[in-house]
Amino acid sequence: MTKEAQAGTQEMASGQREAGGQATDNCARAGAGTSRAGGGAGSAHDVRDLALAGKGRLRTEWSARNMPVLARIGDRFEREKPLAGKRVSACLHVTTETANLVIALRRGGAEICLCASNPLSTQDDVAAFLVQDHGVNVQAIKGEDHETYYEHVRAALAHGPELTMDDGADLVSALHFLALERFDDLDPGIRRWALELSPEERTALVRRVVGSTEETTTGVIRLRAMAEAGVLLFPVVAVNDSQTKHLFDNRYGTGQSTIDGILRATNVLLAGSTVVVAGYGWCGRGIARRAAGAGAQVVVTEIDPLKAIEAVMDGYRVLPMAQAAPIGDVFVTVTGNLHVLREEHFAAMKDGAIVCNSGHFNVEIDLETLARMAAARREVRDFVEEFRLPDDRRIFVLGDGRLINLAAAEGHPASVMDMSFANQALALEYLVTAGELPIGIHRVPKAIDAEIARLKLAAMGVGVDVLTTEQQRYLASWEQGT
Ligand SMILES: NC(=O)c1ccc[n+]([C@@H]2O[C@H](COP(=O)([O-])OP(=O)(O)OC[C@H]3O[C@@H](n4cnc5c(N)ncnc54)[C@H](O)[C@@H]3O)[C@@H](O)[C@H]2O)c1
Repeated sequence: MTKEAQAGTQEMASGQREAGGQATDNCARAGAGTSRAGGGAGSAHDVRDLALAGKGRLRTEWSARNMPVLARIGDRFEREKPLAGKRVSACLHVTTETANLVIALRRGGAEICLCASNPLSTQDDVAAFLVQDHGVNVQAIKGEDHETYYEHVRAALAHGPELTMDDGADLVSALHFLALERFDDLDPGIRRWALELSPEERTALVRRVVGSTEETTTGVIRLRAMAEAGVLLFPVVAVNDSQTKHLFDNRYGTGQSTIDGILRATNVLLAGSTVVVAGYGWCGRGIARRAAGAGAQVVVTEIDPLKAIEAVMDGYRVLPMAQAAPIGDVFVTVTGNLHVLREEHFAAMKDGAIVCNSGHFNVEIDLETLARMAAARREVRDFVEEFRLPDDRRIFVLGDGRLINLAAAEGHPASVMDMSFANQALALEYLVTAGELPIGIHRVPKAIDAEIARLKLAAMGVGVDVLTTEQQRYLASWEQGT
């Protein structure tokens, strides 16, 4: 990392502290901020314990060391203030890397309300740090129940955002249900609040939104479905579709951190075991490669013949899940699809099979059916639940079937989130500066993608060649052949 980048990263994690550590972001229209953490009645945050802030600060500074690209962007944002006065509601995994993104956006002038994008992914010390040191309105508690999760989403909506950021589209879909008056589709807590608003207030809430960004594959799929159904109301930048996002975050980030989550939760030896990876997309490729690297025999299941043949050529055994179920020791779903592991698979699994998910939602493993099939269930370790079937076979489910890399580990390493969150920061700036974008799903402009790759390489001290004039001319011509 260059000296300049290093200096920037330090500033990123520790700069901009506010005297007294009081929360300044204001959920005025929310009436939210229950202040479980002792911030005083009415203060705008809901986190587990502000006393954890010191640990969160140290860990956020640690991850900042490996986020040089975001640091450079934060430095420029501080000078140029492209987000001055913009209200941003972010529904993201509350991790150290997200903390560095939030700090960079605040340096650019944004007023942020941050809620979790998964009930199990919040790092409570980081949430406390953002409230205590940066006065961010954070609404997130690890292990929060369904009701609290949506109460926090509601608080983010009530922040009155001009820009939103999602990881899974929960914020944007709630905004749309509200705008379309599809109140029955809203979570009860949000529905009650929405019905208390006047129609004018509801319209104003949605009209205020200039645009949104989406971090993950599943969110982009949901948003494309909204656009195709003709209900999307504002432009969304699909950050996931940037090359500097999915080629690295989904593959190397999910690959490493999913294995990390499985190991932290179970401490099993992967060498010599059979790991079944359902889905050979960007995430699945990464997980399969890391599992194979640890000495496991990897079996891939797919529904797409192209992905399946790629997995075969990459050296993996490809089987339908019905045939993989009886031989797997560890199962990881990462398809973005529903009920990939279901009754007939549980019925065929061996005693002691470990089952987990790294896809966005906890729908890939049909846990309701497994619970129905089980004669007994109990928690045997943190993030490990045993389901005992009537024939005494045990199936162990990790992290309630939620993203195992965030539930039992710390999510992606900072150096990979550096590029993902550089995309997020620049996508927000693009939404503000590009003029009125048409309603629809937009890609991060190619030039931004290329610039992020260039900055990352520079920070890593890696040089690349430049086309000579002769080469440029050759590539632009058609005359020269065999
Ligand atoms: N854990 C994380 O931190 C993390 C990070 C990035 C993305 N994600 C999530 O992981 C999921 C996958 O993302 P991706 O970028 O790899 O998507 P992708 O579209 O590249 O890959 C998904 C693959 O699953 C396959 N598939 C679909 N249904 C299947 C089924 N029933 N059985 C077997 N295979 C099936 C598809 O053919 C595809 O190849 C998404 O939900 C995404 O949001 C999680």
